[in-house]
Amino acid sequence: MNTKVVTIKEDHIDEEAIQEAGQILKNGGLVAFPTETVYGLGGDALNAESSAKIYAAKGRPSDNPLIVHIAGMDALPLIAAEIPESAYLLADAFWPGPLTMIFKKTDRVPMATTGGLSTVAVRMPSNKIAAALIRAAGGYIAAPSANRSGRPSPTVAKYVIEDLDGRIEMIIDGGFSAIGLESTIIDLTETKPMVLRPGYITPQMLSEVLGEEVIIDPGIIAADDTRKPKAPGMKYKHYAPKADMVIVDGSSDAVVSKINALVHQKQENGQKVAVIATEESGPSYHADVILSMGSRSNEDAIAQHLYKILRECDELHVDAIYSESFQTPRIGQAIMNRLLKAAGHTVIHCD
Ligand code: TXA
Ligand code: MG
Repeated sequence: MNTKVVTIKEDHIDEEAIQEAGQILKNGGLVAFPTETVYGLGGDALNAESSAKIYAAKGRPSDNPLIVHIAGMDALPLIAAEIPESAYLLADAFWPGPLTMIFKKTDRVPMATTGGLSTVAVRMPSNKIAAALIRAAGGYIAAPSANRSGRPSPTVAKYVIEDLDGRIEMIIDGGFSAIGLESTIIDLTETKPMVLRPGYITPQMLSEVLGEEVIIDPGIIAADDTRKPKAPGMKYKHYAPKADMVIVDGSSDAVVSKINALVHQKQENGQKVAVIATEESGPSYHADVILSMGSRSNEDAIAQHLYKILRECDELHVDAIYSESFQTPRIGQAIMNRLLKAAGHTVIHCD
């Protein structure tokens, strides 16, 4: 298949290109598009065949459900069977934006879209290209992140092209994803609201709006397989670069000397080593490649750089990666969730 790549600017939307992309989706084809979190691989959410094509193009296990993207609250009742009051509160506060809510689904949503579940995940993205495309496609776009299964989510179109060129009809290049991490997922179908995937919207922000405690799925915190996460996608090894990756945690001086010692050992064995550090700590390392997540004081930048840096480790063909830890105050939980997965939960603690 020949994949058409078009560039659209968010502040000056090319309506003609959006209509063309919308028509592809209406005809059952696939279009990758930018959102404020990561790029999505879109298909018509109400068309079972389109969802099947998404799984095939991604190489994704078909028990892993897709998120349905909408562009207005009027679209919600057609796909969500029960909409609790809490959903309206959260939508008022965070939609459009990086929050996904889980509802009981209606019959309009095919099982092919929800991976066989009776619930549906719904998000209203704030990216204007995404919103225009959803409208042009008839209101409902199913979209997982636009990477081949197991690879880091793409935050620039270049990586979408790398993973999906020749597999889908169109890729819309809309520049950088502003946030760089996938949306926070909250499940509203249980007695207590529960976060199934941490993201830019934190449990604290959610609980402030809801006026009640928001719990975090214990399955996503466990490092082993003893508890199964409720979001099927969270159980897969994800975001992993090809090289072995280890996180080193502790006071900044201790981390620098520990990582430098580990790098030295690997280099003695002829290996090429990368260190994931910050603007401040970068100059203290002696490695083949030093990748900076930005300033430690700017957690938004750290989130935005993470997936790009994991992809760069592959491009640079390094044999081993050592990363600092990034328990930043607000989105640190989401950043560390992704980083720990990338490292297969291998962490060295030092003082
Ligand atoms: O930010 C995002 O959410 C991006 C952009 C494109 O919107 N999308 C995204 O989709 O991250 P994906 O497919 O890569 O991740 C969706 C996650 C998976 O872990 C999946 O298992 C979970 O959401 N999920 C989807 N529907 C669910 C449901 N009904 N119940 C529980 N988990 C669900
Ligand atoms: Mg994904």
